Amino acid sequence: MDRILAPEGESPLLVGITGATGAAYGIAVLRAACGTGIPVRLTVTRAGERVLLEETGRTAAQWIEDLSREAVESAGQTAGAPLQPVLDDLSDVGAPPASGSFRTRGLIVAPCSMGTLARIAGGISGNLLEREADVCLKERRPLVLLARETPLSAIHLKNMLALTEAGAVIMPPVPAFYAKPSSVEDIVRDTALRALGLMGFDIPGAFRWGRER
Ligand SMILES: Cc1cc2nc3c(=O)[nH]c(=O)nc-3n(C[C@H](O)[C@H](O)[C@H](O)COP(=O)(O)O)c2cc1C
Repeated sequence: MDRILAPEGESPLLVGITGATGAAYGIAVLRAACGTGIPVRLTVTRAGERVLLEETGRTAAQWIEDLSREAVESAGQTAGAPLQPVLDDLSDVGAPPASGSFRTRGLIVAPCSMGTLARIAGGISGNLLEREADVCLKERRPLVLLARETPLSAIHLKNMLALTEAGAVIMPPVPAFYAKPSSVEDIVRDTALRALGLMGFDIPGAFRWGRER
C-alpha cells in the first residue's frame, strides 16, 4: 500500500525565548530559520520578554515585525511568497503547537532558563512553550535547549540529564573559538546555526571544521 506522507515542507519550526540572558541567540535562530524559507513560530515567556527588552531594546512583537519585513523584502527579490514568522500567545495552551497532531519540525529554546528547563524536565506543561517541549519529547521530535546558567547546581545538572535521557539535546551556548569569531555577532550567529544544524538545517555560512565558510 502506498504511504501518504504529510507535506513536511509546511511543518513549522518552533522557537522559544525564555528569561535567561542571551536573547540575541533566539533572534539569531529566528532570523536564520526565516532565511531558509520554512514557517517559523515563536513563543516567548514573560521573563523572556523582560530580558529581550533589556538586552535588545525591542519586544518580541517588534522583532516579529522586523523579521516579517525582512521576509517580505527577500521574497520581493526572489518573487516568492513571503513566509512571515508567527508569534504565539504563551498563555494559549490551545494553540496548534500544543497538540501532537499538529506536525512541527521540533523546537529550539534559545536561550533556555533553568526555570523552564526544570519545568520541561518535570513535565509541567504550564504554558504553551513548556507544552510544546513536552509534545516534542512525547512525539519524538527534535528538542534543542540552549541552556544558559553558570555555575551549575546539582539540580540543574540532574534536570539536564533527565532531559537528555528523554531525548532532548542540551546545547549550552558556549563559543567555539577555533571558528575564529571576530565579533559577538559572529559568536551568536555561529551558535544559532549550530543549533539549527542539530535540527538538520545546513545553512550557508555555518562554520564546519575542515570546510570553508
Ligand atoms: C537580566 C536577567 C538575566 C537572567 N539570566 C538568567 C540566566 O542566564 N539563566 C537563568 O536560568 N535565569 C536567568 N534569569 C532569571 C530568569 O529570568 C528567571 O528565573 C525567570 O523566572 C525564568 O522564567 P522563564 O523560565 O519562564 O523564562 C535572568 C533574569 C534576568 C532579569
